[in-house]
Amino acid sequence: MELHAYFVLGTILVVVYVWRRRRDPLNAIPTVGGPSLPLLSYIGAYRFMVRGQSLLDEGYAKYRGSAFKVAMFDQWLVVLSGTHLVEEVRKSPEEVFSSMEGVLYLTQFKHYIHPNIIKDPFHVDPIRDQLTRQLAPMLPNILDEIIETCKEHIPAKEHEWAALPGASIMLTMIARATGRAFVGVPMCRDPKYIHAAVSFTMDLVRARMFINLVPERFKPLVARFFQGPARNLHAAADTLEPLIRERESFLEREDDSEPGEKPADLLHWILESNREHGEKVHTVVTRLQLINFAAIHTSSASLTHALYHLLANPEYIPILRKEVEGAIRETGWTKASLEKMRMIDSLFKEALRYSGISLLSVYRRAMCDVKLPGGIHIPAGTLTSVAMHPIHHDEAFYKNADQFILERFSKVQGSEKDNARQQFVNTTAECVSFGRGKHACPGRFFASMELKVILAYLLMHYDMKLENQDEGRPADLRLGHSILPSRNAVVLFRKRVQVA
Ligand code: HEM
Repeated sequence: MELHAYFVLGTILVVVYVWRRRRDPLNAIPTVGGPSLPLLSYIGAYRFMVRGQSLLDEGYAKYRGSAFKVAMFDQWLVVLSGTHLVEEVRKSPEEVFSSMEGVLYLTQFKHYIHPNIIKDPFHVDPIRDQLTRQLAPMLPNILDEIIETCKEHIPAKEHEWAALPGASIMLTMIARATGRAFVGVPMCRDPKYIHAAVSFTMDLVRARMFINLVPERFKPLVARFFQGPARNLHAAADTLEPLIRERESFLEREDDSEPGEKPADLLHWILESNREHGEKVHTVVTRLQLINFAAIHTSSASLTHALYHLLANPEYIPILRKEVEGAIRETGWTKASLEKMRMIDSLFKEALRYSGISLLSVYRRAMCDVKLPGGIHIPAGTLTSVAMHPIHHDEAFYKNADQFILERFSKVQGSEKDNARQQFVNTTAECVSFGRGKHACPGRFFASMELKVILAYLLMHYDMKLENQDEGRPADLRLGHSILPSRNAVVLFRKRVQVA
């Protein structure tokens, strides 16, 4: 080709590129973290992965009340940075901002599961319905499981400290207590079940890390090389199959069953719903594992964050113990007692506000072109989320936002409604730890009960301190948008001599 032909071709390519870029509506949304040119945006994606928080803080400071975008390896993420935008998303139907599409991006589980699960996630209904309604009768079982787990895993004596890895012991407590509510005894104590329930998250996270490096059309190919989630589901199905068969045969003869014979756990409620769907064991187990994915590491990270805040401020311990003792003395280990534990409620809410398990929340995919107030134009297909960590640290919403204040949410603020607004389980535009709107976490009522019982029980039965108490709160681990409590911190436990 003649030199001038190269020149003409090059000019055409540049013109087309500039024309397409100018027409791309995402260009109107400012970029934070690096250049937004093709390929160069990988620099921004790398920066977001290694120092996500400073990028989000920078974006929030510059574009508070509006939106900005950060690069990820496979696409842009538009970060909505105002509480009025949180409310816009809350009000939008699934056809405008899809939560399922947001979850699919975050998890990439679609490569490993039956498509019916995405079409009809009926397993979520029993969480909202039976699990949440039956918290009171379930509480004694949860407590029983916590007592057993402590006996097995906390080898502390009255005059001797036992040193245990904090994050891992909290994960064990959560896995067992959650298992008790999901599959009952003895399955919740079966090491194979616990392993499958806990490791599914890690299997998915590992696979997702690679899948999300490539554009959409190559994702199925990459997923084929990372079969950890698929293997996990097979192992979980093998472990759960005998129990599921037993439960199915119970459902067939339910009308002739003895009173008290009916199981009261999530697996049973999912199988009840499955009567009209007739799904096979593997698909039912997949549904259960997706709930474990949503429930276990979120709850254990929240519990560990709260525990580390508490142990780093040991002056809080007697305050909380007094509250627990008072409530238990009056109403025993009941839901009513937990409702009286306002300070513990506040501790968890403050731990999620201050630390949190993620920098972002309320992931959604725009299903059509969306116009938001302030002239923000979100093109169809764009992934969006809410700047949770910056909002949770905004002085306009939280006085002394960069301080951890135990009683921040426990003070009686006036009316019943104001009080309810303060509670851990409540979501607002300024507090999105559990998301917001129709798809806000349906498991939060269960999580709140479980976290409170575990911490209250530990406070009543153990003295606890950090091994490196002088070093303050163990530093969190940050990767991309995740905030994990320290994996290495060691907690010392000693059995208390006198307990209520
Ligand atoms: C402290 C622990 C937990 C935290 C911080 C948490 C947080 C969240 C968040 C941020 C969302 C997304 C909400 C949104 O996009 O608006 C979510 C969704 C969800 N969570 Fe939780 N969660 C926790 C515990 C649980 C538990 C124990 C369960 C099950 C019993 C559960 C089940 C779910 C499910 C099924 C969804 C998806 C709901 C939907 O798409 O409609 N979570 N959670």
